[in-house]
Amino acid sequence: MRVRRTLPPAAAPLHLRDLWSGFKGFLAGETYLKNLEEGIKEYFGVRHVFLVSSGKAALYLILRSLKSLRPVRSEVLIPAYTCFSVPSAIVRAGLKVTLCDIDASSLDFDRKLLEEGVTDETLCVVPNHLFGIPSRMDDIVRLCRKRNVFVLEDAAQAMGGRHGGRFLGTIGDVGFFSLGRGKSVTCGSGGIIVTNSDAISRAIEKEYSRLSFPRTKDNVGEYLKAVMMSLFIRPQLYWIPAALPFLKLGRTVFDSRFPVMRLSPMQAGLCIDWRRRMETAMNVRKEQAAMFCRRLKGQEPAGGVSALPYLRLPFIVENRDRKRKICTASQRKGLGITQMYPFPINDVPQIAHRFARAAFPVARFVADRLVTIPLHKWVSDKDRDEMARLLVPASSQPDRDTAGSLDAIRTTGDLVGKERA
Ligand SMILES: Cc1ncc(COP(=O)(O)O)c(C=O)c1O
Repeated sequence: MRVRRTLPPAAAPLHLRDLWSGFKGFLAGETYLKNLEEGIKEYFGVRHVFLVSSGKAALYLILRSLKSLRPVRSEVLIPAYTCFSVPSAIVRAGLKVTLCDIDASSLDFDRKLLEEGVTDETLCVVPNHLFGIPSRMDDIVRLCRKRNVFVLEDAAQAMGGRHGGRFLGTIGDVGFFSLGRGKSVTCGSGGIIVTNSDAISRAIEKEYSRLSFPRTKDNVGEYLKAVMMSLFIRPQLYWIPAALPFLKLGRTVFDSRFPVMRLSPMQAGLCIDWRRRMETAMNVRKEQAAMFCRRLKGQEPAGGVSALPYLRLPFIVENRDRKRKICTASQRKGLGITQMYPFPINDVPQIAHRFARAAFPVARFVADRLVTIPLHKWVSDKDRDEMARLLVPASSQPDRDTAGSLDAIRTTGDLVGKERA
């Protein structure tokens, strides 16, 4: 176990004031829930909000509701490179996961393949705004309207982000945010469903009315986890949880046995200051992303806009071996550079048999090469310098000042073009 300052890959800090409100949430009954719900409605300009135990619980509930509205359709079309929680929720909802390969420069659906992928069986398409990079919602909505397919926005990583002046998560028929660790705002775990559709809201309400609140014992456990998280997320202490493999930090798993419950008043209490926390964190991340990109002298990350409030900054490196070396060196130096999803969804062992004859080469390309740069408030100038140096391949390290140009790091689009040529 190595005792050293270690940056977490992503961090949405909880302050003492939030912990105190969380504690009061045990006593406050549903007032905090009501306040959070009303605050979300007002801020995001949506008519209906449901607060649940996680992002995947939100997704599961939405899927069940959409299925009740169009019972003859049962396929859910998702990007082949996304969080493994997404197929977990689809399987749990009794629906069929279908995959569309991605566009490597935006990490969004490949536009042409999406058109081909939507069929008469498709219940909904799930764009995912990965890292906060807006999916091309106008195109997706247009296509889905034509084919009578729902658009379910997975804005788990994009709460507070906008596209064309509209909030991500509110552009499709229905959307959700995650309040999990390392998201824009966190209360340990939680999910928020937003929609302006009265019909979808009525269908969700039917499912939601059957959900219970977490038991007091579980709630106390969640609270203690939140307290620990608020302490150990700091770089001076993060090496401790990072060194404990049973915590599985940063691991993405497929598990469809997750709890589906309401958000507790305690968790809503932890979110009391969500607006300020979200906006502050977004500004910090936007600034950090721009500073890192400047360090790379104009090289742009996936998404292509250095001023986005990325959740983490995604870069594609030359090959899988480089990815592994960068992540290992980062771990040794405590820099918080990590991979994202280790393989595409068609390789998730529990569902891989369904895709035996399909290939998603760009999703695999990205999974093999993508590394993410942390952007939270604890990343210092010195950290940025060290991270930038790590990303420069040994063969092209001229000197310290010009190392920032990083010729070998390309936007994903450049690299794909080269590899395919
Ligand atoms: C893109 C995406 N969708 C869905 C989820 C599920 O959210 P939660 O972890 O709150 O269940 C996540 C979580 O990391 C995610 O990144």
